Amino acid sequence: MTESNHRQSEYPINPIFLDRWGPRAFDGKPMPVEDLLTVLDASRWAPSALNVQPWRFIYVLRDKDGWDEAVALLMEANQVWAGNAAALVFMVSHTKRLNRDGGWADNAGHAFDSGSAWMAASLQAKMLGYDTHGMGGIHKDKIAEKFGVPADYTVEMAFAIGKYGRKEDLPEALQEREAPSSRKPLSEVVFEGHFKG
Ligand SMILES: Cc1cc2nc3c(=O)[nH]c(=O)nc-3n(C[C@H](O)[C@H](O)[C@H](O)COP(=O)(O)O)c2cc1C
Repeated sequence: MTESNHRQSEYPINPIFLDRWGPRAFDGKPMPVEDLLTVLDASRWAPSALNVQPWRFIYVLRDKDGWDEAVALLMEANQVWAGNAAALVFMVSHTKRLNRDGGWADNAGHAFDSGSAWMAASLQAKMLGYDTHGMGGIHKDKIAEKFGVPADYTVEMAFAIGKYGRKEDLPEALQEREAPSSRKPLSEVVFEGHFKG
């Protein structure tokens, strides 16, 4: 087992998997764009079906134009804390892929593969000393419109990235939730030979 970040695995995994979590108490400071691009570079090395690489990332930095407008694209419950992040990244994925004959086909794996890319970003961020927090609570139609996302792409999620701040600066209700969460036991999600409901 591995113990780290008030979490405990059942087998001796690398501590980075326990250390990565999604806090909400960001410190409200900007980050160098090079750090963000380092994180997104790691992300693009995620595997994908047929190596299609359906993921796309649209970022907005807190110290650049458009920050307030980007925060407004999150649902209100997320704006409260994500407005203190250093950057917001909107993840978009391509729902189509090119066939061998040059035509376009649906890419059934676009969301699954983009999920791998998000996790790679999250882990690379942690290795650089940043935290990330994923958000499905976003205004997807407004995001697509604002950033000019073409119709054959879909907005998957957004994530906040930044340095950890102070839990005490969060609204009280969020302070209570500001702790690394646990996971279902291995026996509940891993089966030998047959699915167990
Ligand atoms: C795709 C996705 C969407 C999420 N949406 C939200 C959200 O809208 N608001 C929020 O506060 N947390 C959101 N989360 C964070 C999850 O609740 C969190 O990852 C989960 O509870 C596990 O906690 P951990 O990331 O700290 O390990 C989201 C996470 C993911 C991956």
